[in-house]
Amino acid sequence: MSLFDIATRAVRMLPAESAHLFTIDALKTGLGRPSPQLDDPRLAVTLRRSGLKLPNPIGLAAGFDKNAEVCAQMLAFGFGFVECGTVTPRPQPGNPRPRLFRLSEDRAVINRMGFNNLGLGLFVRRLSAMDRRAGIVGANIGANKDSEDRIADYVAGVKAVWPYSAYITINISSPNTPGLRGLQDRGALEELLGRIGAAAREMEAVVKNRPLFLKVAPDLDDKAIADIADVALAQDWLSGLIVSNTTIARPDTLVSKHKGETGGLSGAPLMESSTRVLADFHAIVRDRLDLIGAGGIASADDVIAKLRAGAQAVQLYSALVFHGPMLVQRIKADLVARMDATGALNVAELARL
Ligand SMILES: Cc1cc2nc3c(=O)[nH]c(=O)nc-3n(C[C@H](O)[C@H](O)[C@H](O)COP(=O)(O)O)c2cc1C
Repeated sequence: MSLFDIATRAVRMLPAESAHLFTIDALKTGLGRPSPQLDDPRLAVTLRRSGLKLPNPIGLAAGFDKNAEVCAQMLAFGFGFVECGTVTPRPQPGNPRPRLFRLSEDRAVINRMGFNNLGLGLFVRRLSAMDRRAGIVGANIGANKDSEDRIADYVAGVKAVWPYSAYITINISSPNTPGLRGLQDRGALEELLGRIGAAAREMEAVVKNRPLFLKVAPDLDDKAIADIADVALAQDWLSGLIVSNTTIARPDTLVSKHKGETGGLSGAPLMESSTRVLADFHAIVRDRLDLIGAGGIASADDVIAKLRAGAQAVQLYSALVFHGPMLVQRIKADLVARMDATGALNVAELARL
């Protein structure tokens, strides 16, 4: 058992949010930071539409590093890319605590954080000070809870982070800001993407080729999936979709005492539904948009399942709570072992076997 495994067990004795804050503080000290290692070249992935070149396909999902404090540290744990945020234009405290719950028996998490963050100003200062050589860092942007023009918040976010992030994610799928997910409805989405598209064209003059992704919920029926795909495909500046955020559904299989808490459920019980929604999007968009799969990933098998459903890369978060940060190295080693055993030359080929 590594030092990180022991630390992960110890941190799990703390209440969930205290454990998270402690982890961020510990990471900031830089103590115990692993030295970055070069990935096996067979793990490298270039996303077809955006052209993003990832050293490996496993990313850190948004919400872990909301204030862009420990992106470089998380890259050093072996993530192929790290998404920081969600950041909103103005700082906001989020919902009252407790708002983060471990469902240990279910290998799941419920959160109703509510976009607690320190605001765009500090976020952008940190991003701009970061050494780009550390790796690929994306910025996930959202709207303030009390905003009178939520779309204007997204436009402000896109413009502010554009010069300093490797890619930008437009998050309209958090269940913890009332009404936010209404932006996924056809009419609202057309208006949102229309205004962001105008901002993107303006910013293209400053820095070219900044990939933009739209992050969607898993709680979508066939009509909503078809509408979102249709509106997304109509935007020539949009690179792809991240499928998915947390779910408001509560599968019958849950047994943990916190299963009735309000918020978004993530982790193992989200794997199946989020992968199904990913496959549904893929059936429509095919190669016309890059798909990044998230929801319930905790193993190489899970990564392969997402790739088979149409993802070119993946993200995870909740599994770190139960398996610690060394999980990334373990998943990558497992993928490499499988490529050795099968002769597959890259992960896409491995997923096709
Ligand atoms: C505590 C917590 C906070 C999160 N905060 C955000 C967020 O701020 N923005 C966002 O787009 N997704 C957020 N997410 C969702 C994750 O990025 C991810 O999409 C989701 O948890 C599914 O992946 P997982 O099952 O591997 O955790 C959060 C998830 C958790 C558990």
